[in-house]
Amino acid sequence: MNVPQLNIGNLSAKLPIIQGGMGVRVSLAPLAAAVANEGGIGTISSIGLADVKLSGANFLRNSLEALRKEIRLAQSITQGHLAVNVMGVTCNAYDLVRTAVEEGIEMIAFGAGLPLKLPALVEDPDVNLVPIISSPRAASLILRTWHKKYNRSVSAFILEGPLAGGHLGFSTEQLQHPEQFTHEILLPELLLAVKPFEDIYGKKIPVIAAGGIFSGFDIARMLQLGASGVQMGTRFVCTEECSVSSEFKQAYLDAKEEDIIIVKSPVGMPGRAIRNRFIRSVENREKGRIKCAFRCLSACKIENARYCIAEALLNSYSGDVDRGLIFCGQNASRIKHIVTVKRLMDELVIELEQNLTSKTQHQEMTQAYQQVSL
Ligand SMILES: Cc1cc2nc3c(=O)[nH]c(=O)nc-3n(C[C@H](O)[C@H](O)[C@H](O)COP(=O)(O)O)c2cc1C
Repeated sequence: MNVPQLNIGNLSAKLPIIQGGMGVRVSLAPLAAAVANEGGIGTISSIGLADVKLSGANFLRNSLEALRKEIRLAQSITQGHLAVNVMGVTCNAYDLVRTAVEEGIEMIAFGAGLPLKLPALVEDPDVNLVPIISSPRAASLILRTWHKKYNRSVSAFILEGPLAGGHLGFSTEQLQHPEQFTHEILLPELLLAVKPFEDIYGKKIPVIAAGGIFSGFDIARMLQLGASGVQMGTRFVCTEECSVSSEFKQAYLDAKEEDIIIVKSPVGMPGRAIRNRFIRSVENREKGRIKCAFRCLSACKIENARYCIAEALLNSYSGDVDRGLIFCGQNASRIKHIVTVKRLMDELVIELEQNLTSKTQHQEMTQAYQQVSL
């Protein structure tokens, strides 16, 4: 069977795979371009590109310039499809969006906050606006607001479930019951929520499933459930093209299932990370002992924070993992090797082709999936 391509607005990717944006220099130009070269959509993260400590008062300007540089570098190594990830919790989110659009980026994946005003900022209909959400309710609110205020629909939604890496759109309580928020439950609800707006605008609103997608089997499963594609983060960390230090990648290879835990980030959202020396030391720390040179995250509750998250993520990126936070998805412990992006994508496509089934096989697959995912 043929692997379906992923159509988002005017963009047509050969493969239904998006490499998700991963902040603080995890998904930079080399990774995003490699994914785009293989036919997927590669996402450059706009988060934490400038050094908070070194930049001082120039932090804002430096982060925009760093993003510009990263986009240009990626564009110089691929003709494929590139997106930029922006998080609503950053103090300069809208400036980062503007910079990405100025540089000709064709898709903005906007997470960690509801992008209710995004269409006012990006009027060009050729720029695909893709909110990352974790509930059909959030999707409905965005759709209703954009329709009423801007007469515009989203280009797609990325539905990020509770098994994803990085900051999560669920409460700590909800994360204790991931079985209540599976794609099996959320995807059909989301497809129902977008339907009226597909009718109004006369076009499909693709839904991309993210969080815990590990193999081609999982991708096939998401397509069977009605997703148009998947977004994957964790698996792309252990690729040669990912820019993080070898120590960061080794922490993934060494992680056991029980090492992967939910942490409370100073941003106020829960996140998933590897329980390492850094996390253990933070658990024993008092609150409010840190100094902040610049409020890079508007949502950061600095008075209660036990550590600076930008600094902790930067430490891991550069190899000082004992003093660093290592974000990862629930399935990080299943990764056994560091491979090239090409090898990973080839493997995913072979598995996907093997598992793209006819409807008669669908039931068997549902049972098998439930057994492996629970
Ligand atoms: C190390 C890491 C950093 C991440 N950083 C971000 C981020 O800055 N912004 C964002 O929207 N999502 C972020 N994510 C989420 C990914 O984009 C992706 O949606 C998610 O990881 C998918 O789940 P998976 O890791 O199980 O494949 C991050 C994930 C990881 C593993």
